[in-house]
Amino acid sequence: MNLKVQLGKLTLQNPVMVASGTFGYAREMAAMFDLSRLGAIIPKTVTMTPREGNKTPRTVETTAGLLNAIGLDNDGIDRFLIEKLSDLIQYGSPIIISIAVKSVEECDLFGEKLRGISGIAAIELNVSCPNVSGGTDFGTDPALCEKIVRRMRSVTDHFLIVKLTPNVTKIAEVAAAAARGGADAVSAINTCLGMSVDWRNRKPRLANVVGGLSGPAIKPIALRCVYQIYQAFRKNGVKIPIIGIGGIASAEDLLEFLVVGASAVQVGTANFYNPTVALQIIEQLPQILEENGIDDVNELVGTLKT
Ligand SMILES: Cc1cc2nc3c(=O)[nH]c(=O)nc-3n(C[C@H](O)[C@H](O)[C@H](O)COP(=O)(O)O)c2cc1C
Repeated sequence: MNLKVQLGKLTLQNPVMVASGTFGYAREMAAMFDLSRLGAIIPKTVTMTPREGNKTPRTVETTAGLLNAIGLDNDGIDRFLIEKLSDLIQYGSPIIISIAVKSVEECDLFGEKLRGISGIAAIELNVSCPNVSGGTDFGTDPALCEKIVRRMRSVTDHFLIVKLTPNVTKIAEVAAAAARGGADAVSAINTCLGMSVDWRNRKPRLANVVGGLSGPAIKPIALRCVYQIYQAFRKNGVKIPIIGIGGIASAEDLLEFLVVGASAVQVGTANFYNPTVALQIIEQLPQILEENGIDDVNELVGTLKT
């Protein structure tokens, strides 16, 4: 049974990664299971300078989902590289570092910081955080997206994934712009803008008022986004892979994403209520594939019949 996935020059032993912001810096999870079994680990997004994030409450549960407005709370790239990266590398899975930039110029600074640093398998450029001001600007305007990706591309040789927001009318156009800018892959989706209200005291439940919805509630939206991107890529001869994210909590969910066009996936919110879910998915995959007469997970990619 082949579970190995080749995303351009990035090789994954299986198509199951853990999504940024939902697996901490993996340190917290290392006691739960052997992290070297994962396809890849994507730690919390880092920014050039430390960020405190938004006021609390920052998370609230909703029907079949989680609403968050963390606001990219992180210690900044310098402390990440000194304090977190060496731990992450020792877990034995490829480490895809997630970064967010405030400006086109900041790409150059990231390029310098990351040059020559070993142990980074890829960079995921987060142009889709809904919880910081300006956080989605690069992900909602195709021209801006192309510009920022092109600049990042020019300052790094790392495999470059661009993480897209669903909070647009035509996600395929933004994905195409990322590809034109030189992305090696796109990942979709980040969270969907939403809010939660306590009507009795007329208050929003999040201090930030609005936040990003994730979890099983958004899986149909994410599937639709991956499908639309895949169709548009195919029509226009764009060959870069798509990484599916959104509400994935089982091997069946993963396989749905492959069929609509994803080559691999990331598991997010499910880690919070079942920290070993990614491993369970990896372990369930061979049997489900075998039962269905499939001996290579890659066979399924983009096989949707309409
Ligand atoms: C609490 C929380 C924090 C998140 N932080 C980040 C982040 O720092 N960077 C990022 O790219 N995505 C972040 N995300 C988005 C997830 O990586 C993922 O794209 C999204 O939650 C959809 O997948 P899911 O439904 O499986 O959670 C965060 C999600 C949650 C729930």
